[in-house]
Amino acid sequence: CLTPQVTSTLVFAVFTAALGSFQFGYDIGVINAPQQVIISHYRQTLGIPLDDRQAVNNYVANSTEGLHLPTSEPADGAEEDAVASASLITMLWSLSVSSFAVGGMIASFFGGFLGDKFGRVKAMLIANSLSFVGALLMGFSKLGPSHILIIAGRSISGLYCGLISGLVPMYIGEIAPVSLRGALGTLHQLAVVTGILVSQIVGLDFILGNHELWHVLLGLSAVRAVLQSLLLFFCPESPRYLYIKLDEEVKAKNSLKRLRGFDDVTKDINEMRKEREETASEQKVSIKQLFTNSSYRKPLWVGLMLHAAQQFSGINGIFYYSTSIFQEAGISQPVYATIGVGAVNTVFTAASVFLVEKAGRRSLFLAGLGGMCVCAVFMSLGLVLLEKFPWMSYVSMVAIFLFVSFFEIGPGPIPWFMVAEFFSQGPRPAALAIAAFSNWFCNCLVALCFPYLVNLCGPYIFFFFAGVVLGFTLYTFFKVPETKGKSFEEIAAEFQSGSAKRPKATVEMKFLGASETV
Ligand code: GLC
Repeated sequence: CLTPQVTSTLVFAVFTAALGSFQFGYDIGVINAPQQVIISHYRQTLGIPLDDRQAVNNYVANSTEGLHLPTSEPADGAEEDAVASASLITMLWSLSVSSFAVGGMIASFFGGFLGDKFGRVKAMLIANSLSFVGALLMGFSKLGPSHILIIAGRSISGLYCGLISGLVPMYIGEIAPVSLRGALGTLHQLAVVTGILVSQIVGLDFILGNHELWHVLLGLSAVRAVLQSLLLFFCPESPRYLYIKLDEEVKAKNSLKRLRGFDDVTKDINEMRKEREETASEQKVSIKQLFTNSSYRKPLWVGLMLHAAQQFSGINGIFYYSTSIFQEAGISQPVYATIGVGAVNTVFTAASVFLVEKAGRRSLFLAGLGGMCVCAVFMSLGLVLLEKFPWMSYVSMVAIFLFVSFFEIGPGPIPWFMVAEFFSQGPRPAALAIAAFSNWFCNCLVALCFPYLVNLCGPYIFFFFAGVVLGFTLYTFFKVPETKGKSFEEIAAEFQSGSAKRPKATVEMKFLGASETV
């Protein structure tokens, strides 16, 4: 027992679960640094021997000499071929990146269902088989058509991440003592950003991000999957699941004794009994009802917009593609700048744990978006003016670092728990499923479209995101209520201008540790 409440079993169980969140981050960051290495392998596999832009230029310069372009074709045809292969590569790469989010989007609907059907621990175990298969496909991708194996492997790994993005916060929230629920809940996002950072470090070319070892970099997740599966056998099942879902009081007590480190668990059992009674008195709400019932519609839309703002801010454009952005910005060691982004991201996520409990959610979200908007302007300015002023590369770099920092103080963590605060027990599961789905959907759109937007807008790309973020800032200013320290009734009243009539309900601010009955 480390402190009266933090037992070694609790630490062990939280660590084991958070290995899933770590994987989520690892998959987001892992394709960033080795992009060029893997693309050159795609070219090899597909018989496209040179960078196409170079091919087009060379063709124009050398006419038919020395190139593997078809010599019998007229110049136009050869250029067309080169352009066609360039767009094939862009398409394959954006699919390799975004297929992960497609998997996440599909699976995000099923995390809660799997957890209820098999129990949280078994569900995480079952989910791990997906991670394992995905990692194997990518780890052996050199042996076959690598682009297909990577796209398939990332989709399957995405399925795993979609499941755990629901399962991990749920399990941690349920095993944590009430007073530690907020702090432990934020470990999910902290593990995500740690995963991003670690993937960026092992992706360095002298570690695994090189022509010989990139497949190991992608396949490494199999080791994590095996490790987590083994550790899960020693994790106690969620007492809440055992007691509230299965009505297994003895098993719930045993699990609690292990987690709390003492035998008298009456307090926890009483608290769960109360929750069970409240859950029973509230009707479950279907996804359809959320859209059709006017008192749910408003908070639902605001929740969806918060998630859309998080993703359409372009943050994952940075996490998926920052190495090539830094390269464009004239940074001489782009992978180190990418690692800098990961480090700044981790530090500010840790800081947000404290900030979010002190300042209001709405104000942090607004401040974060406002800051991101200004940074996005400077990011593009840096790229546009680079040719005139070489020092502009530093402006771009600092702006990207600040962009990520502003993200993590508000728009990063807040949507994930604020939506839970908008809804009472009955509609909450359905609302959270839709929120997670919309998050992954927008994530997927950004991953898929980012390279095309870059082609379309060139260095002006972040002006586009600045505009989008400005729109969301205004939306937040006019439409998003403050929820910190407010009872559920007060929040509902803000949405409905006092006219809402909803059932008596309990707001359990799961991820923040506060719990109140209204
Ligand atoms: C949030 C986002 C995720 C993003 C991460 C970056 O968890 O949901 O898409 O990659 O933050 O820190």
